[in-house]
Amino acid sequence: MSSEPILRVKDLTIDLLTAHTVVRPVDGVVYELSRRETLAIVGESGSGKTVTCFAPLGLMPVGVQADISGSILFDSRQLVGSDNETLRSLRGKSIGFIFQDPMSALNPARRVGRQIAEVAELHLGMTARAAETRALELIKMVGMSDPEIRLKQYPHELSGGLRQRVMIAIAIAAEPTLLVADEPTTALDVTVQAQILRLLKEIQSRMNMAMILITHDMGVVAGAADRVMVMYAGRHAIPRKQDAIGSRFRGLPGVPPILGAPITGCAFMPRCGYAVDACGERRPPFLPTAVPGVSAACPVLNIRAKECA
Ligand SMILES: Nc1ncnc2c1ncn2[C@@H]1O[C@H](COP(=O)(O)OP(=O)(O)OP(=O)(O)O)[C@@H](O)[C@H]1O
Ligand SMILES: [Mg+2]
Repeated sequence: MSSEPILRVKDLTIDLLTAHTVVRPVDGVVYELSRRETLAIVGESGSGKTVTCFAPLGLMPVGVQADISGSILFDSRQLVGSDNETLRSLRGKSIGFIFQDPMSALNPARRVGRQIAEVAELHLGMTARAAETRALELIKMVGMSDPEIRLKQYPHELSGGLRQRVMIAIAIAAEPTLLVADEPTTALDVTVQAQILRLLKEIQSRMNMAMILITHDMGVVAGAADRVMVMYAGRHAIPRKQDAIGSRFRGLPGVPPILGAPITGCAFMPRCGYAVDACGERRPPFLPTAVPGVSAACPVLNIRAKECA
């Protein structure tokens, strides 16, 4: 695996402003992604997984303004502060997307072949005829039977699994260097989930893509991810995969904090059985722990590291 990162995210903070509220769903997130690597982003509902990936590319719903600070270098280009034109030229071309809900992401009134062909026309400059041929190739590549018939169908005529395959065909039509897949298997039954995941991994290695896989499903993480980032109230931790092997996964009591209210100390403090006074004083910075090479935004672990030093 090449060590050259395709994505370097540093101190990413996102405030969302709507007519009624201001929330900070992303707060000082740092991560890197190498070419061909798969990073899984997991975390409870509302922890900021989707906003982290989609807001910086201008993909928030109408009526929501995203104030973004920090740095996102994608293939050496700075995305924070880029104009709409630049972001539009990256979306669907260098960065492909699979959205959380394929039914609402696909256009219900257009045949699926046309929707795939449009990406090839727009981003690869193909003629309508060449793009139709490309759409047929892609339909075959994502493993749909009777491809000529599928091209002419509308999204509502397809099963959930087939709609997800169409979404994947659209996402990879321009051969992106990064694919962001937001819960690509959540709405599917277990057998189809496994097929879609296998397909994504196959396409990833064929096209040499990096992939961000947002998921709730630890089975998906175990089967597909090289690294995992856990989000909680807009921040994250990156546990090492080998640390989790053989240990039991425990659920947590309590609920995540409300993001609209200011968080002064550690956002996790109310649910933490180890909290000390220092945890409530300020948002903890990432500092070394007793494990060499591992940092944590956790005063308890940071104090222990000092004691062990
Ligand atoms: N359209 C929006 N308008 C206002 N606030 C929003 C909007 N989308 C997200 N948020 C805020 O950002 C927070 C994070 O949302 P996000 O969609 O990133 O969560 P998520 O981790 O992807 O959750 P899920 O697992 O349910 O998809 C939410 O808790 C909410 O406070
Ligand atoms: Mg989400």
